[in-house]
Amino acid sequence: MKKIIIAIDGFSSCGKSTMAKDLAKEIGYIYIDSGAMYRAVTLYCIEKGLFNADNSINTEELKSLMDDIKISFRLDPQTGRPRTFLNGNDVEERIRTMEVSSRVSPVATLDFVRKALVKQQQEMGKEKGIVMDGRDIGTAVFPDAELKIFVTASAEIRAQRRYDELKAKGLDASFDEILKNVQERDHIDQTRAVSPLKKADDAIELDNSHMTIPEQKEWLIQQFNQATHA
Ligand code: DC
Repeated sequence: MKKIIIAIDGFSSCGKSTMAKDLAKEIGYIYIDSGAMYRAVTLYCIEKGLFNADNSINTEELKSLMDDIKISFRLDPQTGRPRTFLNGNDVEERIRTMEVSSRVSPVATLDFVRKALVKQQQEMGKEKGIVMDGRDIGTAVFPDAELKIFVTASAEIRAQRRYDELKAKGLDASFDEILKNVQERDHIDQTRAVSPLKKADDAIELDNSHMTIPEQKEWLIQQFNQATHA
């Protein structure tokens, strides 16, 4: 069967990655979490001291270091899921902390960061057979993707999901802080000048506020079957 590109965009913490990962596993496609790439650049900035005391970013220095940032994904043999590597080091856990979550949006607004990451993402999709999730996959990275999904859910439900996720991992979390972070990120993601979060005209919208994970999976597989049998 002809392989296609599947672009899954939407707000933060709306379960895109779970849906995308499950689908990729089921249909034997490669899954790429583009948000993990922006998170890895953010972690790099934190580790290299590129955030100034007022939380602004030392953009000139970051620009000069962009070629040193190598992001890759390797499958975890135990879970069958991809883990994120930054310059050869496994950073999968470190890019999911609140510290990175609260600093990633400003990094993702930088034009030169987006250009570098979009280029890498387009390379990854050359052979098709890929499910990529993010904010601008259907609009900027793969405007010709054969299947585009735009996922939404209320901010409170998304904050609750992220809270449960962190708690389940035994990490410290405050619901109010997470909700504030979700709302702030929505605002920055939707209003930034470069590639703002926006539904592509030809994307199919899914509000999963009241859907279970198996229901979402079933819905997505139906969309995939329709797209590949059309
Ligand atoms: O999906 P996530 O929460 O892991 O994404 C982290 C941040 O990266 C989020 O603030 C939006 C940004 N992002 C982006 O601008 N473009 C993408 N394609 C993916 C993520």
